[in-house]
Amino acid sequence: MKEKIQNILNEINEFKAENTETLENFRIKFLGKKGQIQELFAEFKIIPKEQRKEVGMLLNELKNKAKEKLFSEQKTFQAGAKIEKSNKDLSMPVDYIQLGARHPLSIIRNEINDIFSRIGFTVNEGPEIEDDFHNFTALNFPEEHPARDMQDTFFIEKDPDIALRTHTSSVQVRAMENSQPPIREIYPGRVFRNEAISARAHCIFHQVEGLYVDKDVSFADLKQTLFYFAKEMFGEETKIRFRPSYFPFTEPSAEMDISCNICGGKGCNICKYTGFVEILGCGMVDPNVLENCGIDSKEYTGFAFGMGIERITMLKYQINDLRLFFENDSRFLKQFKDAL
Ligand code: PHE
Repeated sequence: MKEKIQNILNEINEFKAENTETLENFRIKFLGKKGQIQELFAEFKIIPKEQRKEVGMLLNELKNKAKEKLFSEQKTFQAGAKIEKSNKDLSMPVDYIQLGARHPLSIIRNEINDIFSRIGFTVNEGPEIEDDFHNFTALNFPEEHPARDMQDTFFIEKDPDIALRTHTSSVQVRAMENSQPPIREIYPGRVFRNEAISARAHCIFHQVEGLYVDKDVSFADLKQTLFYFAKEMFGEETKIRFRPSYFPFTEPSAEMDISCNICGGKGCNICKYTGFVEILGCGMVDPNVLENCGIDSKEYTGFAFGMGIERITMLKYQINDLRLFFENDSRFLKQFKDAL
């Protein structure tokens, strides 16, 4: 019996699997129900009592050795098989996880936030669904103003009117209602207008509005602040110019142009050969608006400005179709991977 055990043990020790088939044969031959080890266990019943302890231990050891061999061969054999199959260099560094890119509008919004933060503006936000008071009335829109018309505004409810905000100026109203000057804030956010979608217009877009209310705030402060912004955003060489304009909530009002960042002011098709491109609306906050929001217009003055983030982004990256921002085409979006 002992000799048989030793012989089988030798055979097991020498065994090397060449493929799954020889490995399976090994399992059947030694560890199967009718295998050699099982046979020995059957014989074990008839050996003399005084040998049982010793032989029993040897038999158990043999069985464990056979199992160990089976597992270890399985492992090396499987690992080896994988290398053969995949033909890959397993010592190569792993692929980097594909990271997403920030949306170009987020990149520019963050940059605008940063630029104004550096001169003491804080960032604030307000709701996208607004009542008539915050979107229009408090901002001095006359009762019959065409901007209140169904054509421009997405109304959600009528009487009282609830709408998707048409500009971020509504947040200016909320800020003045809730705090007293000095107020120096910017309000980035999404706005909605009932417009046909084209390369130059969309029913959803993004704005940043800025507001500064304090004692003795003047148009000179407005001009200097926006000049600083234009240079930070578009480069030190950038020139600005103001054209008189009209907004119900500012008086006087202006539109600000910057020297074309594509041609440097020489004239190209982006600036329509004028050398300048419009980037924002601005003005001194109308005293009526201050009063509507609970601020004493004899003591305080303020300026406000509002710009479209899409417009700034298009100028900055030379994008010529607004719709690209909303289509989520990864071929477009992944170009901004290294932008920030
Ligand atoms: N709210 C204006 C718009 O949406 C922009 C603006 C903001 C103009 C603040 C003047 C002052 O067009």
